[in-house]
Amino acid sequence: MKDLKKIELHLHLEGAAPPAFIRGLAAEKKVDLSGIFTPDGGYAYRDFNHFLEVYEAATSVLQNPEDFARLVLAVLEESAANGVIYSETFLSPDFCGGGDLSAWRDYLAAMEEAATEAERDFGITLRGIITCIRHCGPEKSRPIAECAAETKGDFITGFGIAGDEMMGKPKDFAWAFDCAREAGLALTAHAGEWGGAASVRDAIADLKVDRIGHGVQAIEDLALVDDLAERGIPLEVCPGSNVFLGVFPKWDKHPIERLRERGVKVTVSTDDPPFFRTTMTREYEMLNKTFGWEDEIFAEVTKNALDAAFCDDATKTRLAKALDLEFP
Ligand code: HPA
Ligand code: ZN
Repeated sequence: MKDLKKIELHLHLEGAAPPAFIRGLAAEKKVDLSGIFTPDGGYAYRDFNHFLEVYEAATSVLQNPEDFARLVLAVLEESAANGVIYSETFLSPDFCGGGDLSAWRDYLAAMEEAATEAERDFGITLRGIITCIRHCGPEKSRPIAECAAETKGDFITGFGIAGDEMMGKPKDFAWAFDCAREAGLALTAHAGEWGGAASVRDAIADLKVDRIGHGVQAIEDLALVDDLAERGIPLEVCPGSNVFLGVFPKWDKHPIERLRERGVKVTVSTDDPPFFRTTMTREYEMLNKTFGWEDEIFAEVTKNALDAAFCDDATKTRLAKALDLEFP
C-alpha cells in the first residue's frame, strides 16, 4: 500500500507537522509546549474543539517564512514516503502574517521555493488552497480571500474554509468565496463533518463550491447523496480523521463505501495525519481491511481525485501518466 501512487486533496499544512518537528522548533525558540504532547510524543487533546486549540498552540512556534519553508519540506517528505505524488494542502495566511498581503507574499515565496525543492528531491507536486478560518469570523475571511485573489497562480489554485464548522453559516462567508471565485480560484469548504447534511446543502447553495471537505454526513439524507452523485460534486473524505474524532464510531460504520456505491465521487485524504495517528498508507490499509478495496477501487478513487484536483490540465496529464490513468 505504501508504494501505490496516490493523490491527496485534503491536508492542513500545520496539521501535518510531525510532532518532533514542532518540538524541535519549540526548543529552538524556547517556547514551552510540553502540555500539548502525550508521553509517547504525539499530540494530546480531548475532542475536536480542544484539537483546534492544540493545533493553534503547535502552530505558534511557526513564526517566519523560513519556519514554514522547513515545514513544507518535512510534510512533503513524509507524504512522498507514503506514495503521494500530488498533494493539495490548505495554507492559512492567518498563521502567516495575520492576513497582511505583503507579509503573506513573503511566506508564500518561501513555501513555493520549498515545494520546488521537494518536487525535485522527493517527486511530489504541491498546490496550495488558501483557507480562511471559520471561527475567526466573516470579517477576518475578507483579507484572507484578498490574499488568495492577489496571489492566485500556478501554485495557489484554490480557496476554502476550515475551522469550527458549528460557528456561523456558510452564507456569512459568501463575500470571501465570491472574491476568490472572481479571481478564478477553485473552491472547497469544510461541511458535513459536524454540521449535518444541511451544512453540505448550504455550502453548495451559498458558496457554490466545486468540492466539499468531508461531506460525509450527507449520508443522513439520501436525496442529497443522489444530488452529489448527479452533479458530480466530489467529496474529500478523510475516514481515519472521522473515526479518530468520533464522527463515526468505527471504521466499519464509516459511510465512504455507501457513498461510493451510490455514485458519489469520493476521494481519500488524511486531514491532519499526526493528530489522527494516520498516514495515506494507513488509510489505504484500513480501506482494504474494512471494505475490501483493492487495486481497481483505489484506481477509481485516484481518478476521482485527479479529475477533482485544482490544477491545470498539463499537470493532470503528467500525473495521469505517472498513475497509469487516462486523462481526461
Ligand atoms: N477540521 C477543521 N478545521 C481544521 C482542521 C480540521 O481537521 N484542521 C485544521 N483546521
Ligand atoms: Zn480538514
